[in-house]
Amino acid sequence: MEVIRTVKELKTRVAELKAQGQQVGLVPTMGALHSGHRSLIERSCRENGATVVSVFVNPTQFNNANDLATYPRTEEADCALLEDAGVTIAFIPSVEEIYPEPDTRQFDLGPVAEVMEGPMRPGHFNGVAQIVSKLFYIVEPNKAYFGEKDFQQIAVIRRMVDILGLDVEIVDCPIVREADGLALSSRNVRLTPEGRAIAPAIHRVLDESRGWKPGMSPAEVTDKVIALINSTPGLEVEYYQIVDSLTMQPVDRWPADGEPFAVGCVTVYCGDVRLIDNIKYC
Ligand code: PAJ
Repeated sequence: MEVIRTVKELKTRVAELKAQGQQVGLVPTMGALHSGHRSLIERSCRENGATVVSVFVNPTQFNNANDLATYPRTEEADCALLEDAGVTIAFIPSVEEIYPEPDTRQFDLGPVAEVMEGPMRPGHFNGVAQIVSKLFYIVEPNKAYFGEKDFQQIAVIRRMVDILGLDVEIVDCPIVREADGLALSSRNVRLTPEGRAIAPAIHRVLDESRGWKPGMSPAEVTDKVIALINSTPGLEVEYYQIVDSLTMQPVDRWPADGEPFAVGCVTVYCGDVRLIDNIKYC
């Protein structure tokens, strides 16, 4: 595995790989890698001759300075995982390398970015679009891999690819969970032992709620999910919304066969750790 830290060197190496006829897969990450990231990386390695994984804690997508300051950084362990997974290139740039000038681009991300994480984290999706578009311009991958854990992020990235007219296939990958159901996240290391013990209730309630359909409407399921999660001491729902899996707009009835499925998206505070998860109603 090669570790590359500059855009210029990355472009040169990727051009060489493409000249050899390799398909290139890209997996953007912010490091602190775990088995969730690894599932994306392994899929890319299976489906492409060469895989580039970027490890970059992107400052422009953090709307909370403390979250940025305390984001875990574990470069050595990340490199060991990437090497073991069979990655071709680990791209680990500095902030100055990616943003030699401030990135002032404002993306018109439309309705997919106006709900849920959009209003809750102002500027977050614009920052995601900034970094992912830069990576797409630099690497020009055939395929790029994203996790369904950040379900809305995938919709936003598809929208960005559409408005920029980029030629890259976006591949979405299922959520990887701990044995007790908690979705793997780099932020889980910040949970206290008590928080870690109660956090699996989030997935337990979401999973159970799949069985309440079709007897209950999306609005009734929403209210019951929020009430049940909030009844666990130490957990507090920020939002729960059942939305169309493509448009991200709230649904007021369950989709018919052939229509895009509905997905329930939640954020929950467990102490001061903000956890995100979702469940498909299909
Ligand atoms: P990060 O949180 O590091 O996640 C990188 C990728 O791994 C994302 O596509 C995310 O959805 C996926 N992922 C994280 N946990 C997962 C899990 N438990 N199961 C499956 N996939 C999981 O998301 C970002 O970074 C950034 O916003 C980024 C796209 C890199 C732009 O900076």
